[in-house]
Amino acid sequence: MDKKWWQNEVIYQIYPKSFKDTNGDGIGDLNGIREKLPYLHDLGITMIWICPMFPTPMADNGYDIADYRGVEPLFGTMADIDALIAEAKALDIKIILDLVVNHSSDEHPWFKEAIANPTSKYRDYYIFKKPVDGQPPNNWRSIFGGSVWEIAEGEQLGEYYFHTFHKKQPDLNWENPAVRQEVADLVNFWFERGVEGFRIDAIVFIKKDFSLTFAPDGPDGLADVNLGGANMPGMIEFLAELKERTFAAYDKVSIAEAAGVPYEKLDEYIGRERGVFDMMFDFKTTEFDLQTEGIWTSYYDWDVKDYKAMMYNSQVEVGKHGWATTFISNHDQPRAASKYLRANARNPYAVKALATTYFFVKGTPFVYQGQELGMVNFKWDDIYKYDDISTIDQYERALLLEVDEDNAIELVNRRSRDNTRTPMPWDDSENAGFTTGTPWLPLTETYDEINVKAQEGVGDSVFSYYKEMIALRQHSDYSDTLIYGDFEPLPSSDDVFVYKRVAESNTIIVIANWSEEIQVETIPELGDIADIAAGKVVLSNYAEAEGALAVAGNQVTLRPFEAAVIAL
Ligand code: GLC
Ligand code: CA
Repeated sequence: MDKKWWQNEVIYQIYPKSFKDTNGDGIGDLNGIREKLPYLHDLGITMIWICPMFPTPMADNGYDIADYRGVEPLFGTMADIDALIAEAKALDIKIILDLVVNHSSDEHPWFKEAIANPTSKYRDYYIFKKPVDGQPPNNWRSIFGGSVWEIAEGEQLGEYYFHTFHKKQPDLNWENPAVRQEVADLVNFWFERGVEGFRIDAIVFIKKDFSLTFAPDGPDGLADVNLGGANMPGMIEFLAELKERTFAAYDKVSIAEAAGVPYEKLDEYIGRERGVFDMMFDFKTTEFDLQTEGIWTSYYDWDVKDYKAMMYNSQVEVGKHGWATTFISNHDQPRAASKYLRANARNPYAVKALATTYFFVKGTPFVYQGQELGMVNFKWDDIYKYDDISTIDQYERALLLEVDEDNAIELVNRRSRDNTRTPMPWDDSENAGFTTGTPWLPLTETYDEINVKAQEGVGDSVFSYYKEMIALRQHSDYSDTLIYGDFEPLPSSDDVFVYKRVAESNTIIVIANWSEEIQVETIPELGDIADIAAGKVVLSNYAEAEGALAVAGNQVTLRPFEAAVIAL
C-alpha cells in the first residue's frame, strides 16, 4: 500500500463543550482550545478532531446542526475558528471537524422552510410520509428511543418526518441530488478554510429501505431502526460521489463512524482501491463487554481473552482491506480506564498497559481528551445530574424492563456517554481549572487527583507515558515499523497480549500483562536478542528504579500489569 499522510497522524479528540472555558459561562469554547494548543503540542499529537462546534440548539450537544457554515455563539466566532486553524498550523497541528449530515437540526433553516412552506424545494430535503391508518408509517425505533416518525409543530399536510436519532434531528434525504450537492459544497467550504478532513458522523444511516417490515423486538412494540435504515444497498454509491467531489479532489482525510459493517464488506468502505473512506472506526471491538452486540443491558463479567480475540480479529480483518483507526474511548463511550480494566486493575500500571496494547497496533491512533490522564468514570447516583439524552432514554427503558431504580442507575452509569463529557480537569482547584463559572456538567469526583497539573512533567505519570508512546511512534528509529509495519498476533497466556509489528528495517514486539499475576511468556522471536539491557526495551511502564524487564533467552517474566515494547 502506498503511504498516505494521514497514516502518520496521532489524533486528539476534543469535545469542545467540556475542554476549556475562557469566558466563565461554564461551557468550553474555541478560545479554550487555542489556549491549550501548547499543551497538545507538548503531548505530541499531530491532529485535532473537534466535535461539532456549529450553531446548534444543543439537543444532542451539537450533533444537531442548524448552520453548517457557522460557529455556535457559545463556542465563539468564525474569527476564532480561523485563528485556531492558523495557530494550530503554526505548531504543525492539523484540524479536522465533525461532518453530521445524516441529519440536521429541526432548527436548520432548510427544515423550518420545509414545514412553513411545504411546496418549497426544501420539503424534499427531508423524508416526509403520510400516516397509515392514522398511525406512523412504520414501527421502527429511533436510536434514542421512541418512534422514528414525528409530526412537526406547524405541519400543514399532516405528514410525519423521519428521524434516526432524536426528534430534533430530522434525517436529510440523500435520495435528493440537491441535498448531496449541498453536502459536498459545505465540505469544500471548510476545506477552503484550512480544515484537513472530517470525522463523518452516523454515515451508515443515509439510505433507508422502507419496503422492509419487522416484528417488534421490545415492550415498546417497536423494531430497531438499524434493520432497515443502516448499511443499506445503494449507500456506497452516494458516498463514492461525495468522495470524488470533496475528499479525493482536495486530498483530505475521511474517517467514518460506521457501525455494523460486516467484515466481508469492508472493501467497499475502506478498501485500498475502491473504499469510499480513508479509515473507519470498527465498533465491534468496543462491544466486548456485552453478551449480545448492541444490547447495552447485556453487560457481563468478561474475560481479557474475549477482548483480545476481538481486537486481534479486527486488526487482521481490517488489515486485509485497508487502514484502521485504533481507539479505546470517545464521546459516546465510557472512560477507557473504567471500561477496559477489570476491578482488580484500577491502577496506573494497568492504565499504561492498556495504553500500550491499543496504541501500537496498526492504524492511526486516537486519544480522547482526558484519556492521556487515565481518567475514570464518575459515580452519579441521581438521574437528574445526567445531561445525555441517550442515557436518560436508557434509564427509562431499563425501568420499563422492570429493572429497579438503583440497578438502572448502575447500568446507565457504567456506559453513560456523560462519563467522557465531564469537564477536562486541568488542576485540583474548584471546578478543576475548567471554568471560573459553574460547569455545565458536574466534574468527575476524582479530579483532585487525576488532573493535568498533577501529571504534567511528572516522570511516571500516565500523561508522561502517553507522551513517550507518541514520541516513540512519531520520532524514533522505530517509527517506520510502528506506523507502517504489519501486525501479527503471537501466542500468549489468556491475560497477556503479545504481538509483533514487522517491517523491513526491524521487528517490534509489544507485550502487556493485563493481570495482577506474574506471567511467564515464551516468545521465540526473542531468541536472538544478544543483550536485552542494551536499549532493546524501548518502552516500559515500570520505572528504571524498579528494575528492568526480566528476559532470559526467549522467556519473559512479566510483573503485574507490566507492559513493554522491545525492538529486535
Ligand atoms: C454519532 C455521534 C453521537 C451522536 C449521534 C447522532 O453516533 O457520535 O454523539 O449522538 O451520532 O448524531
Ligand atoms: Ca465559554
